[in-house]
Formats: sequence, C-alpha cells, structure tokens
Amino acid sequence: MDYANKYPSIWHLAARARKRLPFFAAEYLDSGTGMESLVDRNRQGLDAVQLTPRVMGGRFTPNIGTDLLGQSYSAPFGVAPVGMSGLMWPGAEHILARMARDKSIPYGLSMVANETPETVAEIAPNQAWMQIYCPKEPEVLDDLIARTKATGIKTLIVTVDVPVGSRRERQLAAGLTVPPKMDVKTLWRVAKRPEWALKTLSYGEPRFKTLESYFPKNQMREGAKLIGNIVDGRPDWDYFDRIRAAWDGNLVLKGIMHAQDATAALDHGADAIWVSNHGGRQFDGAPAAIDALPAVTKIVASRAPVLFDSGIRGGLDIVRALSRGADFCFLGRGFLYAVAALGDVGGNHAYDILRGDLENNMIQLGARTLNELKDLS
Ligand SMILES: Cc1cc2nc3c(=O)[nH]c(=O)nc-3n(C[C@H](O)[C@H](O)[C@H](O)COP(=O)(O)O)c2cc1C
Repeated sequence: MDYANKYPSIWHLAARARKRLPFFAAEYLDSGTGMESLVDRNRQGLDAVQLTPRVMGGRFTPNIGTDLLGQSYSAPFGVAPVGMSGLMWPGAEHILARMARDKSIPYGLSMVANETPETVAEIAPNQAWMQIYCPKEPEVLDDLIARTKATGIKTLIVTVDVPVGSRRERQLAAGLTVPPKMDVKTLWRVAKRPEWALKTLSYGEPRFKTLESYFPKNQMREGAKLIGNIVDGRPDWDYFDRIRAAWDGNLVLKGIMHAQDATAALDHGADAIWVSNHGGRQFDGAPAAIDALPAVTKIVASRAPVLFDSGIRGGLDIVRALSRGADFCFLGRGFLYAVAALGDVGGNHAYDILRGDLENNMIQLGARTLNELKDLS
C-alpha cells in the first residue's frame, strides 16, 4: 500500500481513523471539554507562529537527532501518554512501543492504558517511559514506582493537570462508558465497524491491566469511575517530594502551564518540565499551550529540558514549538489516529510523516540543526 501518497499527513490519518472506529471511540479520542475552544485555540496558537525563511544556505540535510535526559533519540518528538489507547486499536500500546524502539523515539505509557509497563518495557527497554497519575493509596504509589524501576524504565512522568475529571460533554453525548456498555445502540455502532469489532473480539476488550493487581476484577469493570476513586487529582508538593524520594530515575512533571509552577517543580527536584494543557481536554479557559510556553522556557531553559504538547499535528508544529524554546515535542492524538487508521503499521507511518515534514520545513527555513530553530523567532 502506498501510504505516503494515500495518507500524506496526520489529518489524512485522522479522517481514516474516524471511518474505522466506532463513534464512541472516535469521539473519545477527538474530544476536548466544554465548548472545545481550547482544542481550537491550541491549533490557532500554533498556526499563528510565523517564521521567516533564510535563503542561500546551500545544500544540506537537517540534523534532527537530539539528546534528552541522558539518551539519544532520532528526532525531537515522541508519543504522549494516552489512556484507554487499546480502545482505539487493540494492542495499540505494543504497536507504538515497537515503533518507538525501531525508530528510536520515546513512548509514554499511560498508567490507565490497556497494557502494562512490564510488557511495554520488554518491547522497548530503552524507549519506554511510564506515566502515572497520583494514586490516593501510598501502597499503590510505592508499588507502581517499584514495578516501573524493576522493568528498567528510566523516566517517570507524573501528570498533574487533572485535578478532577472534566465534563467532556461530547463523550457523554456519544454514550462512552469504560468499558463499553453493550446496549443496542453501542452494538449497532460496533457492527458498523467490523474490522475494529473482529480485532477487539480476538484481542479481548480493553482492560486497565496495569491497575488490575490492586483491585478485584469485578471492581475493575467499573472502569472510569474506579480510576476517579483511586486517583488523587489534587496532590501537593509534599506528595511530589515523596515521589522524588522514591524514584531515582528521570522525573518529569506533566501538565505545567504557569512559569511559577515550573520553577517550583524544579525546586522540588523535577528533571524536566512538560508544558501541556492535556490537549484541551481539561480546562477550556486555559491559554493555548504554545502561548504558555515562552514564559516557562524563559525561566526553565537554563536549568532543565522543556517538553511540549497540545495541538501538534505535523513537522511544522514541531519547528514552531522548538522556536518558542521547547526542547522536545509529543503528540497524543496524532499517533493514535495513525494506529486507528492503519493498525500495525500506523505508528511507523506517523513517524515517517513527522520526520519528513520536520526535515522539509527546516530546509524551507534554512535551518540545519534543531539549535538553529531556537534563534529563529
Ligand atoms: C484520548 C486521550 C487520552 C489521554 N490520556 C492521558 C493519560 O492517561 N495520561 C496523560 O498524562 N495524558 C493523557 N492525555 C493527554 C496527552 O498525553 C497529551 O497531553 C495530549 O494528547 C496532547 O495533545 P494532542 O492530542 O493535541 O497531541 C490523553 C489525551 C487523549 C487525546
């Protein structure tokens, strides 16, 4: 199949994903919250970043390899953690872990995804990162950290921008329940997507496998409600200090939008700051992540790497974020659109799109290295 011509962008993959996913799964992946203004604002903010190309630089191939937190990667982008990723395609986590290993980029496994850090780290021992929300029970936190350590994973992401579940009206209206409630409407929607249905049937319905050891199986069926019960959405710096004391690997704080929070995170021992508004899924009144980025990088850049997500759909967006001071970018929806659209080969194709687009735009600009992008704006 000629993917390069048939699906030349993440947008093409998103359109294809919508045709392959049952309605509730497509809505889950796409949705923001409230009026979804922030989803739009994230895009508008990125689109508004203009960079003036330089000419007469001669012939060159841009160098897009980079080091982050003690490791070399082939490109300055990776896969952001996405909960319930198995709903978008059975085994999505393993597909993306294989891609991350083969292409040499980071893959962030969500604690509420459908595969475990143990199996993901086995596939991608050097590329897998682990993301956690803050469990209420100290024993669960300790065990998650101990398990992550035992897998050899070196980078732990702590996500703190979900103080409470957001309303996500679109998901409610789409009848999304986790796990899916098999009523007539849902069955009809599933029946209209036979490839997804058959694949899900043979793989087994998505389960919160990482968390299963902490709760009886029948409670796990309560799905999203159970997650709400076990996660402390509003941790404080004391909580973060506990994590820092227990985890001796790289510690990344995800969901930072305010420069003062970034400074505090570094003072409490974070090794990197991840600027993100959760892809517009939590607080619809927030600024575009790209607009929050410069104030953070101004304060943090000399002390620690700044990671960035929310709205990135192509190589040009990565150029834009780097020009505003980010060191590394992540995509949540982008990689999942790709896997939903193309299954096993989706992750690889998304990587190729992003890499090709990044290199092309660097040549358009006359930028030979990622560092040169930082001086462009
Ligand atoms: C369906 C979905 C589920 C997500 N689940 C998680 C999660 O479990 N943990 C987390 O830290 N972030 C989660 N996020 C946020 C992503 O990590 C990332 O911040 C966001 O998707 C970036 O925006 P983008 O989708 O425009 O790239 C999720 C995002 C989506 C779209």
